[in-house]
Amino acid sequence: MAKTPQKLHIKTFGCQMNAYDSERMAEALAGHGYAPTDDPAEADLVILNTCHIREKAAEKVYSELGRVRTLKQARKARGLDTMIAVAGCVAQAEGSEILDRAQVVDLVVGPQSYHELPSLLGRVRDGKERVVATDFPAEDKFLSLPDRPVSRAQPSAFITVQEGCDKFCTFCVVPYTRGAEYSRPVAAILAEAERLARSGAREITLLGQNVNAYCGEGPDGRDWSLAKLLKRLAGVPEIERLRYTTSHPRDMDDDLIALHGDEPKLMPYLHLPFQAGSDRILHAMNRKHTAGDYAELVGRIRAARPDIALSTDIIVGFPGETGADFEDTLALVRRIGFARAFSFKYSARPGTPAASLPHQVPDKIARERLHILQSLLEDEARAFDAATVGRKLKVLFERQGRKPGQIAGRSPYLQAVHGDGPKDLIGQIVDVDIVSAGPNSLTGVIKSEFEWREPVQAAV
Ligand code: SAH
Ligand code: SF4
Ligand code: F3S
Repeated sequence: MAKTPQKLHIKTFGCQMNAYDSERMAEALAGHGYAPTDDPAEADLVILNTCHIREKAAEKVYSELGRVRTLKQARKARGLDTMIAVAGCVAQAEGSEILDRAQVVDLVVGPQSYHELPSLLGRVRDGKERVVATDFPAEDKFLSLPDRPVSRAQPSAFITVQEGCDKFCTFCVVPYTRGAEYSRPVAAILAEAERLARSGAREITLLGQNVNAYCGEGPDGRDWSLAKLLKRLAGVPEIERLRYTTSHPRDMDDDLIALHGDEPKLMPYLHLPFQAGSDRILHAMNRKHTAGDYAELVGRIRAARPDIALSTDIIVGFPGETGADFEDTLALVRRIGFARAFSFKYSARPGTPAASLPHQVPDKIARERLHILQSLLEDEARAFDAATVGRKLKVLFERQGRKPGQIAGRSPYLQAVHGDGPKDLIGQIVDVDIVSAGPNSLTGVIKSEFEWREPVQAAV
């Protein structure tokens, strides 16, 4: 009798890199008899892919484990076993502490050990032991993971090209959870991109914690920069759009800036975190750039690509931040003008240098600053969106919209756009007249030969 497939449910927290890892884990386990399910109650294996970046994110794991424990008990009453694994950055940071805090967990697996998942699960199942795998193995997990068996790719697909971080900003856990900077070889990335493109991907976003620090082995045996990699990918005919995220201001080199002016497939959008506008705070953060450096860099990027949409990450309430420091952050936001931004209240993370600095900012003050900053950022985002109303933009349609008959996608500036149109346009790049801007997305009228009309009901 054929063995019934086991069901796998993965819940993903955190950044796009975790989302990519979840896909790769699902693919690796598919070869070992696990079929994905959206319903955790049906799952023989539940993986929580976790994020450690801020306290709130890390604590979510434990509330989620409470829910999973209830599910496991309910399944046990039906005579079914459930294995529970914690993956991702909390797994790496807390390791065996998770086993102590949550009895329900069978396996803790760090981001550099996903290629070992099948054998680790075997150990849990056969030995009835609880396992922790958080070493940084010498071998490349990407080379050891099976090739992505893409049957139908999303119109917009992601590829991790670089992992880890050597920058050690004093507030950040990533260098500890993801390890040292590592770049995948060009040939592996190209093969993955071509496979995705053949299966329908039109847009590829290259991912990395410091993606513009990319420095991978090229087919010529030399190290290739991100600019060189992007240029090579732009040569793949089916790939019509390229993006990359997240960048560090220190790694924006001249070739990459120039490429924004020269390569039409490279979309006019750049996520470039600056974290704080006060040089004193930037120094304490170990960012190794000043507010002036950042503004000068943006000037050079805009000179290469004047319409580029900029987005950023900002932290308020870093230890020692005064009212005047915070004003410097607001001033830099006003000086640059962002299309989008992500802003956070500083969260002291165990093991990071900033956690033990004096003058931690009281929560009430940090909350007030965050509120003021977010209302400024929201005004800027609305102004950016409003300025695109009346323009014709190329939209890559990715999915059906919320309302029947609607489809939704992204503009070159990464704005969400929806409009009435047929499902066949999903996966295509189409001219759209932008007619209005709402708080979360733009509304457009689909143009050109694809002009959409209500289907006429045939008379019976
Ligand atoms: N590698 C990227 C981003 C990493 S984490 C970069 O260097 O820009 C994403 C964002 O989370 C950071 O840009 C920062 O704004 C925020 N972040 C990181 N650690 C944080 C902390 N301890 N408290 C609050 N926000 C934090
Ligand atoms: Fe964290 Fe700084 Fe590295 Fe970004 S550059 S991942 S903020 S340490
Ligand atoms: Fe979170 Fe790890 Fe990403 S800490 S933001 S999941 S790199």
